[in-house]
Amino acid sequence: MLFLQFPLLAVLLPGGSNEEVFQEPVSFYLIQISSFANKTWAQNQGSGWLDELLTHGWESELGTIIFLHAWSKGNFSDAELMDLELLFRVYFIGFIREIQDHASALKLEYPFELQVSAGCELHSGRSPKGFFHVAYQGSDFLSFQNMSWVPSPKGESRAQNVCNLINQYQGIQETVQRLVRNSCPQFVFGLLDAGRMDLQRQVRPQVWLSSSPTLSPDWLLLVCHVSGFYPKLVWVTWMWGEQEQPDTKQGDILPIADGTWYLWVILNMMTEDAAGLSCQVRHSSLGSEDIIIYWSNHISMNFILIPLGVILPLMLLIGLVVVFKKHW
Ligand SMILES: *[C@@H]1O[C@H](CO)[C@@H](O)[C@H](O)[C@H]1NC(C)=O
Ligand SMILES: *[C@@H]1O[C@H](CO)[C@@H](O)[C@H](O)[C@H]1NC(C)=O
Ligand SMILES: *[C@@H]1O[C@H](CO)[C@@H](O)[C@H](O)[C@H]1NC(C)=O
Repeated sequence: MLFLQFPLLAVLLPGGSNEEVFQEPVSFYLIQISSFANKTWAQNQGSGWLDELLTHGWESELGTIIFLHAWSKGNFSDAELMDLELLFRVYFIGFIREIQDHASALKLEYPFELQVSAGCELHSGRSPKGFFHVAYQGSDFLSFQNMSWVPSPKGESRAQNVCNLINQYQGIQETVQRLVRNSCPQFVFGLLDAGRMDLQRQVRPQVWLSSSPTLSPDWLLLVCHVSGFYPKLVWVTWMWGEQEQPDTKQGDILPIADGTWYLWVILNMMTEDAAGLSCQVRHSSLGSEDIIIYWSNHISMNFILIPLGVILPLMLLIGLVVVFKKHW
């Protein structure tokens, strides 16, 4: 049987103080996307993420942080957040200016895009790990390691030159080190604590079945849809009696706008064997009561739905014809 772990749930034990046992790494990171169209036009986009959850935006005209959840400030005071906001504002403006000034010397060719992912990863029983990665045109370019900037192999001499340039600024290294090694983990602990109610919520999935014809008339493609669940970890499979069907294939777990998740799981099956099948879903919101939906029930539902599906359009068509005739 599959053992379900609840990544974020495990982070904070009920009622405890902050630095407790982790079961999974938790990361917080900022994403920066800087697009340089030509010598004079560039823009920055910024966002903050707690694992896969968007927690912060960046209003680039005003140079202000957008707090997307009631708990997005964590336990930082307004004064601390204003300091950070000012730092990011200066950084974003300076970043564009420096890159534009050095673009031709560094052989960066317009139009180009730089992406930055910077933050920290928290593991149980280990000290937090800070990171700062930069990509140029979508591939690894350079990163911050051990107090200095190191080119990625893919970045070639261009990345080496950029590193040589920025490694001269001791102050930048110290600031980056302080942010990713100290501020970031502190912020994450505060965030997890403040967002506890939201991050530990349990939302039950909706499950329904559908099918598509395949190239062969004797086979059906059965689809089990699982939608609207939270947290993300879920176990879904097609069963035949008590037997897990090994040919079950699973799509990616996709985000829904309300912060929950969607997943489909498919199985190719001989039409005549489909009757014994069921889709089984296990999720933390369900406790030990798995959702099981039988294909045979789905078929009997369809016997009711199909005639309606045929009759309704027919009636509509007749109605239209009648109206049409009257008008003529
Ligand atoms: C630079 O790019 C921007 C945005 O694409 C464009 O509107 C502008 O006309 C361009 N300027 C020059 C000098 O090419
Ligand atoms: C927020 O909480 C973390 C973890 O308890 C702590 O290390 C940090 O100092 C706190 N920050 C503030 C501003 O209180
Ligand atoms: C970081 O630098 C220190 C001192 O220069 C060195 O002892 C250590 O091995 C380095 N660590 C890594 C991961 O490169």
